[in-house]
Order: sequence, then structure tokens, then C-alpha cells
Amino acid sequence: MSTSLPQHPLSQSLEDLVELFDVRPSAAPMADADRELALAAPRFGTVFTDHMARVTWNATDGWFDRRVEPYGPLQMDPATAVLHYAQEIFEGMKAYRHADGSVWTFRPEANAQRFARSAQRLALPSLSIDDFIAAVAALVRVDAAWVPSGEESSLYLRPFMYASEPFLGVRPSLEAEFLVIASPVGPYFASGVQPVSIWIERDLSRAGAGGTGAAKCGGNYASSLLPQTIAQENGCDQVCFLDAATGTALEELGGMNVFVVKTDGSVETPELTGSILEGVTRSSIIQLLQDAGHEVRERRIPLDELLEGIGDGSVAEIFACGTAAVVTPIGRLAGTSFDQTIADGGAGSVTMSVRGELTDIQYGRAADRHGWLRRLV
Ligand code: COI
Repeated sequence: MSTSLPQHPLSQSLEDLVELFDVRPSAAPMADADRELALAAPRFGTVFTDHMARVTWNATDGWFDRRVEPYGPLQMDPATAVLHYAQEIFEGMKAYRHADGSVWTFRPEANAQRFARSAQRLALPSLSIDDFIAAVAALVRVDAAWVPSGEESSLYLRPFMYASEPFLGVRPSLEAEFLVIASPVGPYFASGVQPVSIWIERDLSRAGAGGTGAAKCGGNYASSLLPQTIAQENGCDQVCFLDAATGTALEELGGMNVFVVKTDGSVETPELTGSILEGVTRSSIIQLLQDAGHEVRERRIPLDELLEGIGDGSVAEIFACGTAAVVTPIGRLAGTSFDQTIADGGAGSVTMSVRGELTDIQYGRAADRHGWLRRLV
């Protein structure tokens, strides 16, 4: 994704698009006191708001029945295509409460555009940018009381689409559902913003050339679970994948992109080869680093070169980024034949400064000079 990606204009005002969603309120929303308790210290992805946004598709009628309905289980035929062939895609976004009580989201057009690319790769129907953003806005408006106001807190938004046709033949589903669910969150890692340790996986790959690595589909995450378990068995917090073709260059973590800060102030991140997720946070960070005068190179980063740089001190910091994890310092890299601490193992100054700049924009504490925020409430 280019950092200068133009904001995609909606075809109508957001108000008009949200109006297309029929609100069917929950008869049993969580009591205010219980919600406040749930918002106090949410653990990532464990608590969900009272409603979900939903739009249904079939090959004959296209998208229809735009609604916000009570959050609840989905009834599925055991033959539903997604359960067998994993025809599914998703996005990760957040809604942030600003000091004046208003609620905003960050670069939703970029998520909507990536969602459209993922849909195309997974042979799912294309959902308009209008519908994607309106569904998010409609849900957040109904469940606005669920947007927390704490320092590191936000309402995590999970738009997703799955093949809903009950059919075991291997072809694109003729039915699909698009939903948005929402979950109040604090820091992604239980330890807060602390340096994490990374296991470099040499045997198992995440994605190959021509595969689905650039799409945000559930299958990519399913295949990262065993390597992630191996990382934890080796005493590390997260796994980092190498390229499938040569097994020598850095790609990405299980759910985050990776950046390397050199002692000369330049910054590198693996180039987008088609097998790496085009992170919205990744592209925003490239922009913010460039704004701050850092040279940023998107290039192939050989693991051997990185380890040598950590050893001779030319690599000063490494960090990971993503919507959920924001910017997370990496303090240690380990693999079958090495275990290296990066500088003093602590959070680096460039890492923490770009993290601060990004979150200051997201939470409305700094000017939104790139026009990245969209007001929802
Ligand atoms: C995100 O950062 O939002 C992601 O989608 C990564 C992970 C939680 C799956």
C-alpha cells in the first residue's frame, strides 16, 4: 500500500449511508454498571458489545438487509462452505474516544480497500467502501457507550465476511454474510507496552508467492498458530516468519509487520512482495517516520544481515506494529542457533516516539495533519 493512498470519498454523506441500516435494538443490553465493569480492564477480544452490524449477500440479489441487530450466535448449517474451505476474510480497526467525548476511527477507507482486495483473492463478493464504513459507523453509533475512555483503551472493531452457502462443492459460495462486531480493549499484550521476544521460525512458512499472504484471511492466521506455539515453547512471545522461497529474509509476525531502526536513524521494513500483509499501521508509520526526517527503506532484509547488525551495534531498535498491537518494541530475537538481545533489550526511543505520535493522532491529542481520522459519533 502506498503511504500516499488517497482517501476514498464516500458516494453520499455518512449520515445518509448509516440511515440505510435498520436498527433492531437488543431487548437485553448489558446493564450500565456491568458495562462499566467490563470496560474497566478489558482483556483483548473477550467481551463484546450489545449489537453487531450485518449485511447479507447472494448471487441473485447482491447485498441486502443492512441492519444493526442484537449481538448473538450465528446459526449455521453444518455444510456451510466457510467451515470446510475457509472462504473468510476480516479486518482489524479501532474506535477512539477523544477528550471531548466524540468518537473517531482511523483510516477506515484503507481498511475498506484492503477488505475489497482480500475479498477478490478469496473469491468472495465485493462490498462497497460505502457499505463497509457505514456498517462500522452504524454499529459504533448504537453501541457508543461501549467506547472506553482510558489512556490505552479503545473499541476494537472486527469487520468480517464469510461464505454462508450450505454446499460442499469446491467453488465460490453463492451466499455470504458481512458482519461487524466490537470489543472494548486495553493493551494487546497482557504485559502492556513492554519489549517482547521473537522466535524466528525457519521451517514453517506463513505464505508463498502467489498465495494468500497479502490477503487478511483467517487461513493465514490458522497456519501461524503452530509456529506461534513453537515460539512460546522456546520461551518467546511471538513468531516471525521468513520468506517461503529462500527462508532467509524477514517477512512478518503472526499478526504484525516489523520495522528495524538503524543507529544512523534510517529505518527499514520488509518490502511488500505479495506475501506480506499491507498493514494500515505499517503505512502510517512509514509516513510518520518520514515526516520526522527518517529515511525509510522498504527492502528485503536478510536475517543474517540483521543478526550481524544487532551484533555490531548498527541495529538500534526493532519493533512490530498492527492495529491491535499498535507499536510494540522487540527486545530479543531467538532461533535454533542464536539468541540476541537488541541494544539493551529495552524500548527504543524511535519506537516509543513514533508510537506516541501515532496514538496522539488517534486519540485527538495531536493535529490530524494527514486527514486520517473519520468522526463516527
Ligand atoms: C489487528 O492488528 O487488528 C489484527 O488483525 C491482528 C490480530 C489481532 C489478528
